Amino acid sequence: MQKIKISPSILSADFSQLGAEIKKLEAAGADLIHVDVMDGHFVPNLTIGPPIIKSLRKFTKIPFDVHLMISPVHKYIKDYADAGADIITIHPEATDNLLESIKLIKSLNKKVGVSLNPETSLDELYPVISQVDLVLIMSVNPGFGGQKFIQETIDKIKKLKAKLNELNLKIEIEVDGGINFENSKSIIQSGADILVSGTTIFKSNKGNIKKNIEILKSN
Ligand code: DX5
Ligand code: ZN
Repeated sequence: MQKIKISPSILSADFSQLGAEIKKLEAAGADLIHVDVMDGHFVPNLTIGPPIIKSLRKFTKIPFDVHLMISPVHKYIKDYADAGADIITIHPEATDNLLESIKLIKSLNKKVGVSLNPETSLDELYPVISQVDLVLIMSVNPGFGGQKFIQETIDKIKKLKAKLNELNLKIEIEVDGGINFENSKSIIQSGADILVSGTTIFKSNKGNIKKNIEILKSN
């Protein structure tokens, strides 16, 4: 039986209480903490950077799954590694040389993810697929929480899963954006290993994050 991991996105958390929110997520059974870093340039929103991640590190031992929606990304990678990121996920469009950026993340002893936007083809990933630990499939256009899941993502996940099986690669598929109690089962069945959720986890069932994580895991 596949063990699904849940990576709650703190983009939907109370930014005035991020330390306490992270402790609540750990107590509620989160497997990872998804940290959405946005620069107002790669995406039309601005969130947090290395100093805040550094200050949050002491609140939990569970891995920081840092999603860098910033461009250019290469020159900032070390700052996020030093701040306490455990997984550093980048977008191909945000670097001049995806393989060099992947190598840099690995040289810093961090796990590396590559994130594909809805309109970005799996073909962008295949030249470097054997070098990554994780693939983050965006099921919304990045920038904001609370958007609607793009249904075509299911087919993309299935195609990627088939490719990983064909190449016999043990790489985790993480899906990010618009995940809820209605679509999570089909996302898992299509091949997802990790679900990112902000709105569903923080807002459903009167904000009962433990219950919401359990429901997503139980599908
Ligand atoms: C969007 C972020 C997602 C988003 C997920 O750019 O990358 O992680 O916060 O939030 P929900 O679950 O609200 O779609
Ligand atoms: Zn994200």
